[in-house]
Amino acid sequence: MKLLNTLIEKVSDHPVLFIFFRAILENDFKAIRAVIRRELNLGPGQRTLDLGCGPGAFSDLFEKHDYVGADLNKRYIDYAREHRRGTFIASDARKVDLPDARFDQVLIFGLLHHLSDEDTRAVLSEARRMVVPGGVILAIEDIPAQHRLNLIGHLLHAIENGEHIRPTADYKGLYAEAGTIELEEELRSGVCDYYVARIRTPRV
Ligand SMILES: C[S@@+](CC[C@H](N)C(=O)[O-])C[C@H]1O[C@@H](n2cnc3c(N)ncnc32)[C@H](O)[C@@H]1O
Repeated sequence: MKLLNTLIEKVSDHPVLFIFFRAILENDFKAIRAVIRRELNLGPGQRTLDLGCGPGAFSDLFEKHDYVGADLNKRYIDYAREHRRGTFIASDARKVDLPDARFDQVLIFGLLHHLSDEDTRAVLSEARRMVVPGGVILAIEDIPAQHRLNLIGHLLHAIENGEHIRPTADYKGLYAEAGTIELEEELRSGVCDYYVARIRTPRV
């Protein structure tokens, strides 16, 4: 299992391989893309921050001048700057060097399950600071595989041991500190299960 874990870490660090294998495991992200299209405003002028954007696989859904992606991994950011549309910054999502109320909406996909509760609170607090009052945070995060026959899903999560894949109820508790959960659902994307929450930040 340790060897497999190391292999996955190596593959994950390479932007092209990361995109390739995730697209296979997640059926080309059809379900995730549909949720983003449904829950975020993709029209021109809607300023969007993608926290933990990775190599920028979802930047094409947004207007080029309205989209900012931030990620800790500089290799992903370099790749995104070269191959994607939008602005990309190398940054820790727990402390981002951008002004208050700079965005209308924030996307967080697949970031918080890598972080402890304390770090998750820091990211949500930054997201809340950078979005306008009454803005939206769309969080899509890994939950344990829901079907017992989803063997690959169970295996993937077993390998991600030590990370912070939480049951839905735990995410809910953390999100409630950032705003009101307006919409929530559990969703299957390829072999991965997610909890989707649209959080409305306080208006004052
Ligand atoms: C599973 S990937 C998801 C990437 C992207 N959202 C996507 O779906 O393609 C998790 C991402 O979180 C980033 N990450 C982990 N900790 C971070 C932190 N503290 N600040 C910013 N990004 C972080 C990793 O570098 C990685 O790109």
